[in-house]
Amino acid sequence: MTGLGDRLRREIAARGPMSVARFMAIALDDPQHGYYRTRDPLGRAGDFTTAPEISQIFGELIGIWLVDCWDRLGRPEPFQLVELGPGRGTLTVDALRAARIVPAFAAAAALHLVETSPVLRARQKATLEAADAPAPAWHESLATVPEGPLLLVANEFFDALPIRQFQRAADGWHERMVGCEDGPGGALCFTLAPRPSPAATLLPAARADCPIGAVVEYGEAAESVAAEIGRRIARTGGGALIADYGHSRPGVGDTLQAVRRHRYADPLADPGETDLTAHVDFSALAAAARESGAAVDGPVAQARWLDAMGIAARAAALKQRATPDQCRDIDSGVERLTAADGMGHLFQMMSIAPQRLAPTAGFGSESRGPTR
Ligand SMILES: C[S@@+](CC[C@H](N)C(=O)[O-])C[C@H]1O[C@@H](n2cnc3c(N)ncnc32)[C@H](O)[C@@H]1O
Repeated sequence: MTGLGDRLRREIAARGPMSVARFMAIALDDPQHGYYRTRDPLGRAGDFTTAPEISQIFGELIGIWLVDCWDRLGRPEPFQLVELGPGRGTLTVDALRAARIVPAFAAAAALHLVETSPVLRARQKATLEAADAPAPAWHESLATVPEGPLLLVANEFFDALPIRQFQRAADGWHERMVGCEDGPGGALCFTLAPRPSPAATLLPAARADCPIGAVVEYGEAAESVAAEIGRRIARTGGGALIADYGHSRPGVGDTLQAVRRHRYADPLADPGETDLTAHVDFSALAAAARESGAAVDGPVAQARWLDAMGIAARAAALKQRATPDQCRDIDSGVERLTAADGMGHLFQMMSIAPQRLAPTAGFGSESRGPTR
């Protein structure tokens, strides 16, 4: 067990078991030992790879989406261009390169990166400088991004936010907690709060007909960010594109997972050393954004959105100027992003926009959800 494991055990010994959300928040975001605060976890040598790191086309098509959305909003000047959880900065750089087709877009943009990791902030700075991109302002959260028309992108950001879990028992839904086995250096373990939690009854999936042992999840932090995005877009105009893996309807099941060096791991075994994520409940994000007064398109499968945005045409154009090895890389990147048995269907795309705007690029009119 890691140094963070000792810290968690001490807190549990002093205060009793902690919620899964608190465990995730400490494991990922502890200022000294948290997973994201201490490393660049991306890429082959890291723990996992993301869509922008697989193919430049992903960020480029998002750049086209941003320009189109800005144009339909009436080309507001200035506007806040925000990425939540930008990783290495690859998506932002690819999007800005594609956006050069409309030079006025970059000229009107004030770039803001919401990133808690000092290691990744340094990496983003280097990526942006190498691409001659404008200098961004960094933020710990969306709250400090100045008001004004907002164009926002988040890829694999929401799945990193802490979730609470509740488990059905004979007498109701109990919060799932992280405790510690007895004895010195006892291993962390899951346990249930002694009494049923009234919070669970507010969750659509927590129905009385769920079997004993069923688990439902509540992405409180994710819903609050979606609500804030919706509020800002309803108030000042804008658009947000959210890509992540998750489900489009409230579901039952424990989706907390740990990944280390591209393999699944035990979520409790090495806190601070493994990536922890949970599937994103898109229906909950959509409801939060709609309740804030915005419209929601999707979610739709990532493969469908990329297809609608012209991934095949962009790959063909890139291949015209590529070596045979590069052509193979382009093809394999497209295949990985769109595979029906992989990222293409596991990942979903959803957009948040003002109610007055028609569905944003890549989303058909049938994907517009109900308005408030
Ligand atoms: C899985 S990585 C995704 C990186 C990037 N979007 C990509 O697609 O390559 C998650 C990103 O979100 C950041 N992050 C995680 N939790 C965060 C939080 N609570 N606030 C801000 N950034 C966070 C991480 O440091 C990292 O940059």
